[in-house]
Amino acid sequence: MTLRKELHGLLSMKELSMVPSSFDILGNREKSVAIIDIPDSLKGKKLLIAEALMRKHKSVRSVLMRMSARKGVFRNREYELVAGDPDTEVMHVESGCRFLVDPQTCYFSQRESAERLRIAGKVKKGESIMVFFSGVGPFQVVIAKKSKARKVIGIELNDKAVYYARENARLNRLDSVETVFGDARHESARFHGKCDRVVMPLPESGVEYLQDAALCLKKKGVIHFYCFADEKSEGEMKERALKAVRSLGFGASVSESRKVLPYGPRIWKMRFDIEVKKR
Ligand SMILES: C[S@@+](CC[C@H](N)C(=O)[O-])C[C@H]1O[C@@H](n2cnc3c(N)ncnc32)[C@H](O)[C@@H]1O
Repeated sequence: MTLRKELHGLLSMKELSMVPSSFDILGNREKSVAIIDIPDSLKGKKLLIAEALMRKHKSVRSVLMRMSARKGVFRNREYELVAGDPDTEVMHVESGCRFLVDPQTCYFSQRESAERLRIAGKVKKGESIMVFFSGVGPFQVVIAKKSKARKVIGIELNDKAVYYARENARLNRLDSVETVFGDARHESARFHGKCDRVVMPLPESGVEYLQDAALCLKKKGVIHFYCFADEKSEGEMKERALKAVRSLGFGASVSESRKVLPYGPRIWKMRFDIEVKKR
């Protein structure tokens, strides 16, 4: 039964047609949080909608309405708690890994789960992996759990996300995972020349950190670089990324370009795998 059916008789037909057909649920069978977009025209009915959602999905203890796009350095959103428990910390399970997360304080996107598995699938036995912008640790944890990496280090600027990343490594019993609190630019310096692979999941401004990532690599290695691009800007973004790495005197080429997720009309979150060779 859809949310619209649950609201039948409570909203007019016109209002019903505007009720969102999809929303995100983060958490597990015991406790979860629903995150929903409610159009301005239905804001007066937000409580009815939230209550219907909680009736339909018994695990949902809190309903958050998105109030802004992702913004700021931490890439969080503003939310309004429409109904339920103000404590929105939940335990989410992805690819057999457990993640404690509070969407109100930290970035987490379950839509990126397949991408995390794809990256884990590329990691070879014994590799040392660096994850810049590591958030609550989903790349670190999935890589450590699904590959035979020797070490998976993360660097993250949001102290709340660092707290969750450390908890998540512990919850999943992963001794190979370490999270450093701070700015990837400064904190990465002590890992120069030590990594086989750097993952860079900050598509808005990751390009500014490409040289820091390249410096973390051993004599050769791979950077998984994310950015936003449309058909027109894809080539430009690729060239910009290669130029940043080559400006250090390193060899660089793109071995894979992938559209990871749609981001807007004809805009994609893209990944370029950049093979780097230090001469
Ligand atoms: C798009 S989120 C990705 C988080 C995580 N990797 C994931 O996939 O869920 C980007 C993260 O980068 C962090 N961040 C932004 N600038 C940073 C910097 N200069 N150094 C370290 N972390 C940074 C933000 O706090 C945020 O948690």
